[in-house]
Amino acid sequence: MKGKSFITLGIETSCDETAIAAVADGRKILSNVISTQIPIHTKFGGVVPEIASRRHLENINDVLSEALGQADLTLDDVDLIGVTYGPGLIGAVLIGVATAKALSFAKGIPLVGVNHMHGHVSANYLVYPDLEPPFLALVVSGGHTNLIDVTDYNECTVIGSTRDDACGEAYDKVARVIGLGYPGGPKIDRAAKEGNPRAYEFKRVMLEKGSYDFSFSGIKTQVLNVVNQQRMRGEEVRTEDVCASFQAAVVDVLVEKAMEAVHEFGEKRIVMAGGVSANFGLRKGMEDAAEKAGIRLYKPKPVLCTDNGAMIASAAYYKYRKHGADDLTLDAYADLPY
Ligand code: KG4
Ligand code: ZN
Repeated sequence: MKGKSFITLGIETSCDETAIAAVADGRKILSNVISTQIPIHTKFGGVVPEIASRRHLENINDVLSEALGQADLTLDDVDLIGVTYGPGLIGAVLIGVATAKALSFAKGIPLVGVNHMHGHVSANYLVYPDLEPPFLALVVSGGHTNLIDVTDYNECTVIGSTRDDACGEAYDKVARVIGLGYPGGPKIDRAAKEGNPRAYEFKRVMLEKGSYDFSFSGIKTQVLNVVNQQRMRGEEVRTEDVCASFQAAVVDVLVEKAMEAVHEFGEKRIVMAGGVSANFGLRKGMEDAAEKAGIRLYKPKPVLCTDNGAMIASAAYYKYRKHGADDLTLDAYADLPY
């Protein structure tokens, strides 16, 4: 099975997925096991950090066995261990880091700490064998909304960020208020397909001219106000229409800013990354805009947009090639800049 390939094990535990994958040569997925905790956190309407950490601890050994088994490997075949060391829920990140360090120490396998956000960008390397930096990326997740100029593997300059809520966070908060519950993003995405995107006119906050920053707290508040006012008047709130109109506004802003950046930077390629890039409306909006602008769009399949171990393995492979291994003092960080 192993042949001459360089095998990286990628470990991801920064939020509510316990995920481990085996990847050959930084590009080819041999296994990608994701144990989701969504059913547990759904009861509480969102991720409960303490529960997430405990579940990671309970799950991680089984997820590891499954990831090795599906790839037909043993730990003796593994050349490198990559692990998310931030940003994320600190207790959750720690479980992955402690596991990775224990495996590294016990088996003498080199260890590399990966920035979760570089992991998201790296999901694209697993899908597009020809893709290499530099390129622009739109990174949209539960904690981040950024336009970044990716200058090399695991290196980038941030050209725009959210000034308040992350895009995924806005999805999750709106979903909670309209009664869709957790996880909000996929539920709004599904409902939006059945709704009228022009039923409500929600704000498209573009900020100052020339800025690549974002702001999503205004639209979130607007949705909440509109829904509450309708309810108070005893009017029926059509959830699908609220979802479709909210999504249309968010997608318009993301697509417009991304395309402005493409033009300004003279780029011919843009990459999508992070959980919200699994969104049907955003993928369609970016496809249409990219086609119109004559540029190439890269988007991982939805399962690689949300948290997974394969993206961490790919990022680790390239980090190790350039910078070598980390030592066992590797720590976990709740906040970690790009
Ligand atoms: O990247 P990710 O899995 O975890 C973080 O690093 O945050 O992103 C999770 C976020 C959540 O806010 C979730 O609601 C959102 O991505 N998300 C979506 C979709 N799937 C996940 N948002 C919109 N549409 C989706 N289909
Ligand atoms: Zn993530």
